This record gives sequence, structure tokens and C-alpha cells, in this order.
Amino acid sequence: QNILIVHGPNLNLLGLREPEIYGATTLQDINRNLSQLAENQGIHLDFFQSNAEFALIDRIQQTLHDGTDFIIINPAAYTHTSVALRDALAAVKRPFIEVHLSNVYARESFRQRSYFSDLAVGVISGLGAKGYELALEYAITSH
Ligand code: DQA
Repeated sequence: QNILIVHGPNLNLLGLREPEIYGATTLQDINRNLSQLAENQGIHLDFFQSNAEFALIDRIQQTLHDGTDFIIINPAAYTHTSVALRDALAAVKRPFIEVHLSNVYARESFRQRSYFSDLAVGVISGLGAKGYELALEYAITSH
């Protein structure tokens, strides 16, 4: 099973960035932890982070040819703005889980609209870095 983990803009700054909202865990910590969970289960993980919308779209488009079965994505701020990234996910038809570290429903109203949630298998929001683990567990055991 090949699972792609996609992190959107500013998530490269996790640990440093508004830790009271996003926690102290760095993106490297999150990815390392996911790698360990996938290890020994015959699961191959690919990681991709970008601050650029086009780069995220290009990476999603590649899943048409690279054997990706499932995507776990935190689109970050593009959650609330990017029809283009939504369209990329709709085009490749790979099942995906949308993850947010913070509870977007407990924050500013502009964060309460997602261009992704209705296409997602499911959405995890507000459980911090644990949300990625739960998404991975679901992807492994249920897909
Ligand atoms: C986020 C929530 C978004 O509203 C925000 O723009 C982010 C991160 C989260 O993980 O909580 O960058 O996706």
C-alpha cells in the first residue's frame, strides 16, 4: 500500500509557528512518527510539503502515475481558498482524509469553510499531531 502525506503552506514552520494553536511538534517529528508507524506493516509512505499551490497540485496530479492508493492531506490555508487544489483531488480520484491540527470550527469563521471536506473520506480537526496518526491507522486498516 502506498500512502502520500501532503502538507500545505506554513506547515514547514510547525513547532515555531503559533505553538499555542499548532503545538510544539515539528513537521519532521510528525513525519518521523508516521514513518515508524508504517514500518514493519509493509506500507510505503511518501511525504510532500510545499508553500506553493502549483507544487501541491503537481504532486497530487503525479498520483495518477506513481502508484499512490491513498492520500492524507492537510491543505492548511488552501483549505479555505483553493478550488484548484480541490479540482486536482477530484481529478485523480484517490481517496483522501483531510487533517487539521487545530479545531477549525472553534476559530475564525473563514476557517469553517473547506473546499475539500465533501470530497474527503473523512475529516479530522483539532486532535493535533495525533490526527495524522489516526488518519494513517484508518488508511492502513480500512483501505
Ligand atoms: C490548519 C488550519 C488552517 O486554517 C490554517 O490555515 C493552517 C493549518 C490546521 O492544521 O489546523 O495553516 O490546516
